[in-house]
Amino acid sequence: MSNDANETSQATAERETLEQAFIQVTEDAAVAAAHTMGYGKRDHSDHVAVEAMRERLSQLPLRAKVVIGEGERDQAPMLYVGEEIVGDENGLAFDLAVDPLEGTNLCATGAPGAVAVLAASEPGGLLHAPDVYMDKIVVGPTASGRVHLDAPVAENLRNIADAFKRDVEDLVVVVLERDRHEELINDIRSAGARIQLIGDGDLSAAVSAAVRGTGIHAVMGTGGAPEGVITAAAMRCLGGEIQARLVALDEGQEQRLSALGITDTDRILSTKDLAPGKRIVFSCSGVTDGELLRGVRFFGGGSRTSTLFMSLCARTIRFVDTIQRDESDHVVSFY
Ligand code: FBP
Repeated sequence: MSNDANETSQATAERETLEQAFIQVTEDAAVAAAHTMGYGKRDHSDHVAVEAMRERLSQLPLRAKVVIGEGERDQAPMLYVGEEIVGDENGLAFDLAVDPLEGTNLCATGAPGAVAVLAASEPGGLLHAPDVYMDKIVVGPTASGRVHLDAPVAENLRNIADAFKRDVEDLVVVVLERDRHEELINDIRSAGARIQLIGDGDLSAAVSAAVRGTGIHAVMGTGGAPEGVITAAAMRCLGGEIQARLVALDEGQEQRLSALGITDTDRILSTKDLAPGKRIVFSCSGVTDGELLRGVRFFGGGSRTSTLFMSLCARTIRFVDTIQRDESDHVVSFY
């Protein structure tokens, strides 16, 4: 356990117990979404994940404010940006960045890489980024400090390869398969690195890039800004790095940025700009199988989930394998 100067060890222990309850929050969302896997109904999958996450959060003795969520209040009935969840008036205060189902299409089609994810911090510890796009480059601890968002792609790849003590040809870069990435993809190919194109889910890809052994060395390209903030929270816990810049791809997004008074869209946002908190925790549960986490498995009598839970303060990274028994009299048989 670790505490900071302003916290007694009892307060630290209580906080850490509460933070660990976030594991159940993403587990519940993952299980709910996984029940709908392959049904081809992305909105329904998202809806059940949101409901399950909201339900579990409201049972916790905390005061939480959603800073990254399901959209603005008028678009989302639950977990909207600005929603306050008060399970205990005197409970500890958190800011939350949630994505109850990251990769709605992946879940709807049964494709790999869908996750349920939540990042939390003390109030003010996570940037309230608007729902626009973000140019991103993400690397893990090995190549942290060796890339620059505005550097030519080939230069970044040479530096990443150098950090990993290997050739550019040995690198794998994950890129969202989108028309807007045509030039980026050509640049990566010309530099000689290999590419993994993904249909969705640059957040879980970024987490994988920050863990040695996954075979992914970087994520590049333009994805959602909310996912960028949650990625930054994960990078704080893992020692990785994200550099990002907010971008508006249409007029509506430009209006959203100016409504928030964001005029300086040239600015590069660092990991700490996106997630400045001192007490950041991150919980991510697999919905469908992925590089790092297995998806939910159901068996007669319950379910089994796989979760990555990390705490910046406690300096812990845990892989949590949970078997949840249901209330039936089924004999539990799992593998
Ligand atoms: P959803 O979970 O909302 O479907 O988003 C998935 C995702 O692929 C993110 O991982 C990514 O950042 C963003 O969408 C990319 O947006 P777009 O699909 O508009 O290119």
